[in-house]
Amino acid sequence: MNPIAVELNELIKKDNPKVYEMLSDLGKSLFMPKGILTQSAEAKEKAYKFNATIGTATENGKPMYLDCIYEGLKAFDPKDLFPYAPATGKPELRAKWKEKMLKENPAMNGKYISTPIVTNALTHGLSIVADMFMDNGDYVVMPDMFWGNYRLTFSVRRGAEISTFNTFTDDGKFDVNALLEKVKECAKIKDKVIIILNFPNNPAGYMPTVDEGKAIADGLIEIANSGTKLVVVTDDAYFGLFYEDSMTESLFGYLAGESDNLLAVKLDGATKEEYVWGFRVGFITFGSTNNTPQANLLGALEKKVAGLIRGTISNCPHPSQTFVLKALEHPNFYADKQKKYEIMKARGLKVKEVLNNSDYSDEFTYYPFNSGYFMCLKLKNVDAETLRVHLLEKYGVGTISVNKSDLRIAFSCIEVEQVQELFDIIYKGCKDLA
Ligand SMILES: Cc1ncc(COP(=O)(O)O)c(C=O)c1O
Repeated sequence: MNPIAVELNELIKKDNPKVYEMLSDLGKSLFMPKGILTQSAEAKEKAYKFNATIGTATENGKPMYLDCIYEGLKAFDPKDLFPYAPATGKPELRAKWKEKMLKENPAMNGKYISTPIVTNALTHGLSIVADMFMDNGDYVVMPDMFWGNYRLTFSVRRGAEISTFNTFTDDGKFDVNALLEKVKECAKIKDKVIIILNFPNNPAGYMPTVDEGKAIADGLIEIANSGTKLVVVTDDAYFGLFYEDSMTESLFGYLAGESDNLLAVKLDGATKEEYVWGFRVGFITFGSTNNTPQANLLGALEKKVAGLIRGTISNCPHPSQTFVLKALEHPNFYADKQKKYEIMKARGLKVKEVLNNSDYSDEFTYYPFNSGYFMCLKLKNVDAETLRVHLLEKYGVGTISVNKSDLRIAFSCIEVEQVQELFDIIYKGCKDLA
């Protein structure tokens, strides 16, 4: 193993040896090499005459660029667009995102957390988690309603075992007990379990109530305290899009700093929150495992993530980091966001109103939803894939079949005035197939 990796592992062990044990084989061997980036950073500080270190090009002390590329981007300084961003992301953006996170998540205040590291949006954050913490045969617990891409990221790429539990109880509540029982079941076989908490959920569009959130966190902390090492990952892709009576902050804040056997990892980003899907700006943040700063542990984890980024994509695109930073600094940022939130909320509430006021119940009911971009119908008589194809071919309506009985509707793409017609068509489609 590389001596720098050994050094990082010792730093982690110094603050909490349990977190070292949570790392995958790859996670243990990760490090950030003292290569071109370090030498170039040194030169940036000290090479006042010539800086011939890094593979970019300059002209008159500024980044070199083609006029035709810069033409449409003139609102930005070339230095904020063209050079490489650091492997861990633009420092100002990282600081600003942390500030936003603390503002929006009261439970995180007073906790010790790392500075968010920029990822190529959330998918990349998920793959970093998989690389750092998942070995062949490790268990990853999640509800049975989950974003299908987890299969590729966790199982196909890393050989982890996806272990699911019943998402909802029969009376329409998040099945907290099923989650905790599943974790305990996996804990009997492995002394480390990874848990993915994706709220608001894709595909269900569900955010727990405050009581459910507390019960999830308390239950997981209790399992950790009784001896199982837990890596708990919050996938907060749809953060902030809360429309009804749910908790309105990330479970990360409830979990960070609560047990030496529990490492909380937060994944979030601008993708869905700021409606910039193609920008690819996300973040990964670690919580300390107790009430102390654990600078060794958090610093070493950051360096391991940096090494992973350096060895896969080298760094994330600079222009989109600048665009997001400028947005966060913009005086209208929160007002602009509020306007779009109102539109999304009106759509979500309209869907519920239509479903409650129309008599579709002989063909479908719906799973609980209160947030995010989606909701799911539970079909009673027809196969979801058959219905999906039929709706597309006969009515030109696109939906997603999640499994045999569930059809996912992205109300995020449906105007309020279109909601009734959409569900009437889906109902008609079911009848056509009867
Ligand atoms: C639950 C969940 N996590 C992560 C992602 C990936 O987001 P990104 O586009 O930022 O990679 C998605 C995208 O659909 C998602 O639904």
